[in-house]
Amino acid sequence: MLAATFYDFIAMHFQNAIARLPSATCGQGLTTSSLGAPDAQRTRQQFDTYISTLLGLGLTVTVLPEQPAFPDSHFVEDTAVVGPEFAVLTHPGAPSRRGETATIEPVLWRYRGVTRMSANAHMDGGDVLMVDKRFFVGLTSRTDEAGVREFAAAVEPFGYRVDAIEVSDGLHLKSIVNYVGRNTLILNEEGARNPAFAGFSHLILDKAEEYAGNTLWINDTLITPSGYPDTLAKLQTVGLPILQLDTSEIKKMDGGLTCLSLRF
Ligand code: GLY
Repeated sequence: MLAATFYDFIAMHFQNAIARLPSATCGQGLTTSSLGAPDAQRTRQQFDTYISTLLGLGLTVTVLPEQPAFPDSHFVEDTAVVGPEFAVLTHPGAPSRRGETATIEPVLWRYRGVTRMSANAHMDGGDVLMVDKRFFVGLTSRTDEAGVREFAAAVEPFGYRVDAIEVSDGLHLKSIVNYVGRNTLILNEEGARNPAFAGFSHLILDKAEEYAGNTLWINDTLITPSGYPDTLAKLQTVGLPILQLDTSEIKKMDGGLTCLSLRF
């Protein structure tokens, strides 16, 4: 079993989550997948199970109403980054998603002071991986250097270090790298070669199971997509409880477990 870090229990203890109901238009969102159109009813069932799982782990969950005009809006993670001391409202990289932030901002103000990213910068929260007092921010088709700069300016005063990570494979950084507790990352080969991640133990994803890299760590429980046996076996070596959820419909729209909520 790997050693637990002090911060597993302090800086990254999540009490709250914000999510948004998927709408019947969810199949009209952005996707690079060739898995076919998602079934809206099954998407909703998978989302409901996800919310029940977060509640079961003791989080207080705010579920916002659906937004049919924004078919990707249940991927709420892309609209903000929330830490213990702050919330940063992003300026999402995809033009069709920029209107999603307007209805998130007032909800964030209930919990944190909010810094708004400018229209000159671009960032999706799916590119932002928080581990203790560090942020790793993917440079992708959705997040640019101006986005990293503005984000760093917002969080460095609170003692965070921000590293930009070049990502050539995958939609977002968290499509391919995630923290799974006990100083361990699950990541693909590209991530494993990146010196920024050298200080962590690595679970390296099999190429055929890269999707399952989008595993969610919540207060020392792991939530992972079902149907990825090689990844499951690797996650079991961390020694934490593991819950498996069916994300087959969510995956069709390039979504994963981290995308479906903001956790803080
Ligand atoms: N469908 C999620 C995204 O492309 O942002």
